[in-house]
Amino acid sequence: MTASKGELMLKKVMMRLPRREAYHNMATGQYMRVILRLMGREDLEPKLMWHHLSPFDYHDIGKAFLDPDLTEGHTLYTKDQDLLMMAHVDYGTGVFQQIADIEPDARMFCTAAEEIVLYHHECFDGSGYPDGLSGCDIPLLARVCAVANVYTRLRENAGGLMYQRTIKESLDALKHYSGTFFDPDIVEIFVKGTTEELMEKQLVHQLDIIESHHFSF
Ligand SMILES: [Fe+2]
Ligand SMILES: [Fe+2]
Repeated sequence: MTASKGELMLKKVMMRLPRREAYHNMATGQYMRVILRLMGREDLEPKLMWHHLSPFDYHDIGKAFLDPDLTEGHTLYTKDQDLLMMAHVDYGTGVFQQIADIEPDARMFCTAAEEIVLYHHECFDGSGYPDGLSGCDIPLLARVCAVANVYTRLRENAGGLMYQRTIKESLDALKHYSGTFFDPDIVEIFVKGTTEELMEKQLVHQLDIIESHHFSF
């Protein structure tokens, strides 16, 4: 089947991301699936799929529109760089708004993707961005993504710098920020339901999926 206009648009934007960032998006999607399964909400994703695409795999797609120097794995930014970086949630949301305009059957997919992209940096205590939402005012998928996103960042090798924490260190970090950055119920479910064995299996699975996705773009 030939790809539709909206699919091509999405793939084109994803291809502008550095390979490491494309990996990060899909790895985060995989951990969102782990969390939703542990919550007993594995029914959600199939309802939101558009063709073979899941709204879970694009939370940082807006970084494709940033200066590549900003996304090169630095962890400390100046105030101005911080503001530029924060704009990735708006750029990313714009991608899905455009797709929704041209693809009527992608409505549920785009709505879910927009929620995830726009709100994955909101914090449970209201200290996040862009809108300072708090608690359950933050859409569920964005709260799940917030946990999956940070866990993925902590575990990955960000350009050989800073990160690559162990599983235990990463889970401890989630617990430390439970209730401030993260929804405490989601952190509890993730930490309790997670064993090292499960995580390592998941990682192997991720690599398979990510390789096949990336090279098909
Ligand atoms: Fe982000
Ligand atoms: Fe991210």
